[in-house]
Amino acid sequence: MEKYLINPNQKISKINKDIYGHFSEHLGRCIYDGIYVGENSKIPNVNGMRCDVVNALKEMGLPVLRWPGGCFADEYHWKDGIGPKESRKKMVNTHWGGIVEDNSFGTHEYFELCRQIGCDTYINGNVGSGSVQEMNEWVEYMTFDGVSPMAQLRKQNGHEKPWNVKYFGVGNESWGCGGNMDPEYYGCLYKRYNTYVRDYNPENKIQRIACGPNGDDYHWTEQVMTKVKHKAQGIALHYYTVPGDTWAHKGSATVFDVKEYNKTIAKAYRIEEIIKNHLAVMDCVNPQKWVNLVVDEWGTWYDVEPGTNPGFLYQQNTMRDAIVAALTLNIFNKHSDRIIMANIAQTVNVLQSVILTDGDKMILTPTYHVFKMFKDHQENTLVGSYITTSDIESRETKAKFPQLIESASVDENGVIYSTLANTSASKATKIKCQVADTKIKSIKAEIITGDIHDKNDFVNSDFVKTVEFTNFKKSSDGFTATIPPCSVVKFVIE
Ligand code: AHR
Repeated sequence: MEKYLINPNQKISKINKDIYGHFSEHLGRCIYDGIYVGENSKIPNVNGMRCDVVNALKEMGLPVLRWPGGCFADEYHWKDGIGPKESRKKMVNTHWGGIVEDNSFGTHEYFELCRQIGCDTYINGNVGSGSVQEMNEWVEYMTFDGVSPMAQLRKQNGHEKPWNVKYFGVGNESWGCGGNMDPEYYGCLYKRYNTYVRDYNPENKIQRIACGPNGDDYHWTEQVMTKVKHKAQGIALHYYTVPGDTWAHKGSATVFDVKEYNKTIAKAYRIEEIIKNHLAVMDCVNPQKWVNLVVDEWGTWYDVEPGTNPGFLYQQNTMRDAIVAALTLNIFNKHSDRIIMANIAQTVNVLQSVILTDGDKMILTPTYHVFKMFKDHQENTLVGSYITTSDIESRETKAKFPQLIESASVDENGVIYSTLANTSASKATKIKCQVADTKIKSIKAEIITGDIHDKNDFVNSDFVKTVEFTNFKKSSDGFTATIPPCSVVKFVIE
């Protein structure tokens, strides 16, 4: 029997809702088809946005949406995506399948999407192939309320009042697709571009995000931090879980054995070590902790589904992905003192999506259900928690990771939310939970569980879902429960 302790009196940090953020790029069928179908589509839409997708994202509690990329951001010229649609410039999306981008989804459409979802905004600017002037004018176009050429242009295009830009990313993956730069060079460029990301609106103080490292590249973090210091509110780490040993053989999203499952989970767990190390480097350079960590791309990355465009990064999603999502979100919660935002890649039809679409059909993936389950943590206070656990070990693949991982938070009414994942493919575990200094009135719980391969598809769209969990016994100060293998359970304790 494993011991699980929750101490609601040990208040650690506020869990920024933006940790539950998402990322949507002009890539494959994420924006076009997945989110935006245009006003004339037969698919029910409001101003071109699919009603089914927007409603599902609202219900899931999507707090902030990053756009327009990714690698696409450093080739995106925002002026091509404003004004009458018939005269918008067409371009080739060189990164993602070489298809024609007609720019029918641009700045106005992005803000309309965020309005419909009810979420905050995170725009990624172009440092790789864009000018300082172009970036400066985009910020002016979006946020200035006074008399200026860009504010005038926005008004001419039908939007009188400025929008609110919560976060602005100065470049993306500048170490790779965003310009192949060295960190020293990018750090200098950041300072230059960022100077012109003006706070045009006193009520809209933009939080600036510098391009951060690729996985465990600590040298990048150190060098960029040295230059950036107080001039950024966040530095953005990218970490993907790729089960295969090479990018050419990443592994299938649906056909895998337990060995590969364990390898995936072990690789997903690595994000915690990487987060800790980057924070240590950041704190060394800047002990005042002016700059926080953002993880604006994370998730599983497999080979594309057979028969689909390799440049579209379309992959299925199984209970394995649900476990990756749950363990990662628990890790983010545990580091919510320094992580202010995270964005899973990507919202619809690309990589670890929460939604997949096929024409007018839509399915919610196991990852969707985990996000919906965890949404109660948003803006709560992280509290002390600890669970004993054995490790899952595979000598063959050298994978080793904890079987159980949890986090717990408390809302302003004193209700405790605990999310727990059993990452084992086959082993159930008994736990005994004790909540310090609390007389418990009631406990409700829900679970998502199944075989590691279980998924939803367009034939059986509701196969994996959350259901009520009753396999626990309440006591005055806690509960005992048997947690099935490959499962995520949420306990709501009052
Ligand atoms: O999410 C897909 C791509 O992965 C993004 O465009 C890029 O930033 C990263 O390499």
